[in-house]
Amino acid sequence: MDFDFSALRQQFPFFTAHPDWIYLDNAATLHKPQAVFDAMDQFYSHQNSNVHRSAHGLSQQATAAFEAARTTVAQFLNARFPHEIIWTSGTTAGFNQLVFGLMGPVLQSGDRVLISTMEHHANIVPWHIHALPFGVELDVVPLTAEYRFDLAAFAELLKRRPKVVSISHVSNALGHIQPIADIVRLAKAAGAIVILDGAQGIVWEKMDAQALDLDFYLFSGHKLYGPTGSGVLYGKTEYLELLRPLLGGGEMIKTVSFSGSSWNDLPYRLEAGTPNMAGAIGLAAAIVWLQQQDIAAMQQHKKALVQRFYQGCRQIQGLELLSGPTTNAGIVALNLKNEHPADLATLLDQQKIAVRAGTHCAMPLFQALNSKGSVRFSFACYNSFDEIDRTLTALATAVELLTE
Ligand SMILES: Cc1ncc(COP(=O)(O)O)c(C=O)c1O
Repeated sequence: MDFDFSALRQQFPFFTAHPDWIYLDNAATLHKPQAVFDAMDQFYSHQNSNVHRSAHGLSQQATAAFEAARTTVAQFLNARFPHEIIWTSGTTAGFNQLVFGLMGPVLQSGDRVLISTMEHHANIVPWHIHALPFGVELDVVPLTAEYRFDLAAFAELLKRRPKVVSISHVSNALGHIQPIADIVRLAKAAGAIVILDGAQGIVWEKMDAQALDLDFYLFSGHKLYGPTGSGVLYGKTEYLELLRPLLGGGEMIKTVSFSGSSWNDLPYRLEAGTPNMAGAIGLAAAIVWLQQQDIAAMQQHKKALVQRFYQGCRQIQGLELLSGPTTNAGIVALNLKNEHPADLATLLDQQKIAVRAGTHCAMPLFQALNSKGSVRFSFACYNSFDEIDRTLTALATAVELLTE
């Protein structure tokens, strides 16, 4: 399959409506192809009714579409069973359910959990809320001098016998791809349960949960061309069975009396209340759409965008690049010496170039880097080389202005 850039870009209504914007904030959220809008519109216009509840035909149609969406995700991740896909509202919600659910059945006072310096707050704060107050202790894998995951230090920390290892596939702040195959292999050999935060990795490369022998994997629909408010917590059946539900209410129960309740089977046990039906259907449509594209060519294109941008940045005096150009999933973080990242981002915004400035929900990372934050340029398959060149010109002008 050839990579037809303009045919791809045309599928994103945002860019037809707003050709003047250069959108380089893709790590925050992606734009969506028309196919996702169509699937959600079809659901609301023709099938809208509540799932799993009513005997009428409409509800049955909605249930069929909703469960077909679950199967699409299960096949995409190569899960063994559709019930290993738990719908969430996103990675953050998934982590809160997961950490809460592990407490008691898996984690008790005195147990250790191992994360890394590069984690997003979604893989830090839920541990603070749900685990640390009950005596669980967190260990943190440091960075190498090149701001990469320190595999040797990781192997050393595994000697402390963490019960759980929870690591992001791709750093949302730096774009660095973690050595997940080694991480999973070493963690398993040390007897730990492995959680992979796929929020940034899911769009970078296809995940095979069985081949990688993942115990848990989380991602957000909106970072995979799908709608906001949709997401997935994947888990192996035997581990999902252990989780205590965080949310109680309709659908997640078998029986309820005033003295207690018994819980439903998977996946419903972990999906209390009316689910985000259109969101699940939209997310499945995004996956189907993605599978119709040349994913390898899209990845190549993204790599080329990073190289071009990185080389261009090297020509601009005063810029400090925090991200490396290789083993990078399409994110470049940089700073202008002695300037606040927000100033650079504001000047770019005035040129209609959307980037993000700050600590990117990774405050501990920037504490480790002894930095107040960065300007983050994050690329997607629908960005063009022309956009990179225009951004570099705008960046050079902004740097000139700020350093005058
Ligand atoms: C690595 C990583 N983990 C978790 C999250 C949280 O995702 P969400 O805000 O969609 O819940 C993000 C979002 O940026 C992320 O990049």
